Amino acid sequence: MAQTIPHNMRVISTNKEMSQACREALKPVGLVPTMGALHPGHLSLVGQARADNLTVAVSIFVNPTQFGDKKDLQGYPRDMEGDINLLRQHGVDLVYAPKVEEVYPDGFDTWVDVGPLADKLEGLHRPGHFRGVATVVSKLFNVMRPDRAYFGQKDGQQVVVIQKLARDLDMGVEVVIMPTIRELDGLAMSSRNVQLTPEQRQAAPVVHSALCQAYLLWTDGERDGDKLRQAAQEILRSESMVDSIDYVSVANISTLDEVERVEGRAMVSAAAHMGPVRLIDNLVLE
Ligand code: PAF
Repeated sequence: MAQTIPHNMRVISTNKEMSQACREALKPVGLVPTMGALHPGHLSLVGQARADNLTVAVSIFVNPTQFGDKKDLQGYPRDMEGDINLLRQHGVDLVYAPKVEEVYPDGFDTWVDVGPLADKLEGLHRPGHFRGVATVVSKLFNVMRPDRAYFGQKDGQQVVVIQKLARDLDMGVEVVIMPTIRELDGLAMSSRNVQLTPEQRQAAPVVHSALCQAYLLWTDGERDGDKLRQAAQEILRSESMVDSIDYVSVANISTLDEVERVEGRAMVSAAAHMGPVRLIDNLVLE
């Protein structure tokens, strides 16, 4: 008869307790940083962390300093109870769910500035966003001192920023990047997708289709950056549910500078507004 093995997952809300739990945990420790409202994309990170490590820690913290807009922060989807149940089912050992005051106590003043990478693409449209991300990720690394940390390719620029942060500041953490998980129609999974109306949801895969168009041209041998950007722009513009396009980019994968010609590895990415949601997605040309 099948037996269920009881799994003791600890949910911790203070730095001190979390640091101690990680110090005492079986090594290696794998960390999956999240802002909650978990979906299969997050669970793929948890699955990989479970496969690679003896202890799996997940943080759930909606980080206020990476939101420019108060309304966006307030409206961000939250489901702590559902998340905790899911993580328990997926064999997670430690959940870190601090309050804002625990992460940013009165008098907090020290920030991690990631340099020019932070001012491109997403950074141009969300000033301060990557300073907030880099600061909170550094704090999570310092509290938990994980051996590995897992991020999704869906946030392509975030991946580049965090890899650089870990290298530049000698974090001693192996940054593991997992592929974007998509709905059957190609839409990249994101906690924000629940905010789309049914009509918007139906139209939302256009972002992926636009990037695929550029990708297909590239596999056919097109190397001209403008031609690839144009091809993706046209597909995005053809969808009337797209309210506005922030950018379509074909950029060098390390510097995130736009390329005239795709020579080495590059990332084709786009951000577009559909109702209340800003959809972002990317594909790596390699
Ligand atoms: O990708 C996210 O969910 C967030 O940006 C992160 C890495 C958890 C930092 O708040």
